[in-house]
Amino acid sequence: MTKPKIALVGGGQIGNAIAHLAAMRELGDVVMFDIKENLARGKCLDIAQAAPISDFDVQLKGSDDIAVISGADIVVVTAGVPRKPGMSREDLIEINARIMATVAEGIRTHAPDAIAIVLSNPLDAMVTLCQKITGFSTNRVMGMAGVLDSARFAFFIARELGVSVRDVNALVLGGHGDAMVPIVRFANVNGIPALELLKHKFGSEEKAHQIMASLVARTRDAGGEVVELLQTGSAFVSPATSAVAMIEAVIHDQKRLLPVCAMLDGQFGVSGYYVGVPCILGVEGVERIIEFELTADERRLLDHSVGEVRKLVDNLPL
Ligand code: APR
Repeated sequence: MTKPKIALVGGGQIGNAIAHLAAMRELGDVVMFDIKENLARGKCLDIAQAAPISDFDVQLKGSDDIAVISGADIVVVTAGVPRKPGMSREDLIEINARIMATVAEGIRTHAPDAIAIVLSNPLDAMVTLCQKITGFSTNRVMGMAGVLDSARFAFFIARELGVSVRDVNALVLGGHGDAMVPIVRFANVNGIPALELLKHKFGSEEKAHQIMASLVARTRDAGGEVVELLQTGSAFVSPATSAVAMIEAVIHDQKRLLPVCAMLDGQFGVSGYYVGVPCILGVEGVERIIEFELTADERRLLDHSVGEVRKLVDNLPL
């Protein structure tokens, strides 16, 4: 049986980290395409030379010819420009839409049977563009955002409560922008609601809600916080790790329930837009979208977030 072929379109910070993590986990052979001459070759050669030490045995091949992605099982798109301090993800739309247009054509031509995972920002718009241009069925085109946003939320909760991140479960839905929707009532530490534990720690319900609100705010701004610190680029290890969890779920047909930017067809009362929702990820890509009843507050927040996605997407040059 042949190994899965994982193609990375974009060999910058995130693409490089995905290549390394995917190789370390031996998820498949990795090819990388970057528009910048020799960049992908250099990145792949560097990672491959770590193989004897880290003890992974997969093929890595970089190229500045997109034909390198031919026949890929999975294509992960990180091609595009990252934010600079003071920028929102939305500010990237014009330049990254142009990049996505050429990249998606390339995917349609060279990897027509692939499952595509998009990371380029603004995420919800870029994944929409990728699906429209490739013409792939919507289960085969998805975006990575919720896994990362949920991990950030879980991390902040764990820090605040002084518990292991292993025991924290958190879920963030909606668009990958400032209006994302952390589902507070589901946040828990091994089943115990995080709000309960905050109440216990701070002695009042009011204070617990106040602290939770600050964790939610920090989650929404987590990407920007990293951008401000780095000054020259945006987060890359955590987005790459999130993408690798999704790649693994697809390649190993794990049927994981993960928050994924998926095309909605009536779920959560939304049709025709890509939005972050809980999905079952397996070998067919987005195999199922999991719905649950929202509270009135969650409904309002999700509607607002979808409204922001809609504004972005409706202005796309499709
Ligand atoms: N085809 C292939 N690669 C391209 C193209 C293209 N048409 N245009 C640009 N690239 C490459 C760049 O040469 C660069 O190496 O995309 C890479 C992007 O890498 P970085 O600038 O390091 O950005 P990164 O941090 O990896 O983020 C990539 O993901 O999370 C989002 O906001 C982030 O949009 C950004 C994207």
